[in-house]
Amino acid sequence: MRVRVLGTAAGGGVPQWNCGCGGCAGARRHPERRRSHASLAVSGSSAGPWYVVNATPDLTDQIEAWADLRPEPGGRRSPLAGVILTDAELDHTLGLFQLREASRVSVLSTAAVWRGLSNGLRVHEVLAPYTDLSWRELRDGESVRLDGGLRVRAVPVSGKRPRYAAEERAGHWSVALRIDGERGSLVYAPAIADWSPELDKELSDADCVFVDGTFWDDQEPRTAGFSRRTATQMGHLPISGPSGTAGRLARLPARHRFYTHLNNTNPLTDPDAPQHALLAADGIEVAAEGMILEP
Ligand code: MLT
Ligand code: MN
Ligand code: ZN
Repeated sequence: MRVRVLGTAAGGGVPQWNCGCGGCAGARRHPERRRSHASLAVSGSSAGPWYVVNATPDLTDQIEAWADLRPEPGGRRSPLAGVILTDAELDHTLGLFQLREASRVSVLSTAAVWRGLSNGLRVHEVLAPYTDLSWRELRDGESVRLDGGLRVRAVPVSGKRPRYAAEERAGHWSVALRIDGERGSLVYAPAIADWSPELDKELSDADCVFVDGTFWDDQEPRTAGFSRRTATQMGHLPISGPSGTAGRLARLPARHRFYTHLNNTNPLTDPDAPQHALLAADGIEVAAEGMILEP
């Protein structure tokens, strides 16, 4: 299996267009600190095809940035075979609209996420005149086979609905993805509201894990002044503190352990922040854009 990290930021990106916080200002001064919205490309072999995990508002730039994801000269044949969604949040789904030039777009998600996209964003209705949009359901605990020898399974992590879908009924609104290749396995979990035994089990025998690094501490959304809720109340366990994920991540046997989906208020957006050394002591890193792994 090949994995390419396409982006590592939470909703808004770094910098966020209307934000002058330390992280955003730092990224304007130091372009190498910029982070696009969190996403991965995965493939069963180096020859592709590729699947993208989440379709961010940066998707077409993320595709253009890497030769592997661009079409061959001459035709209109993209090596992109489909989109796998962890949730229906806007930072993970707005990119679907940018794929309308394709003759077909194939989406894999839970039933709740598809319902949100269809009823709330009207994705199917809007895209139908442009492209052949097809959907396959990711059922709780069931593996789906992908082209190139990959298998993917959803692990429910929370029932938190996007704000635009607040009236929708309960369901698996946010999942972690377990992806297995012929050799190697990966768990991608950009939102973790609760480190459940089921999630822990999947994380415990994966070769490579990417987990929710949205906020460094639980009070961060409040101290930064953009929300009255804590990180946990927003559906993201913080990295540090009593409910923090760092200790659990440190104990996982995975060869590669990364945080991703960083909010622009997270001190880790500054590469010189002392928090990096704390994580490094436990073998944990912040995922970098463009990184290629072969778990
Ligand atoms: C999240 O990760 O919790 C969502 O993307 C928040 C949002 O952008 O509304
Ligand atoms: Mn998000
Ligand atoms: Zn900011």
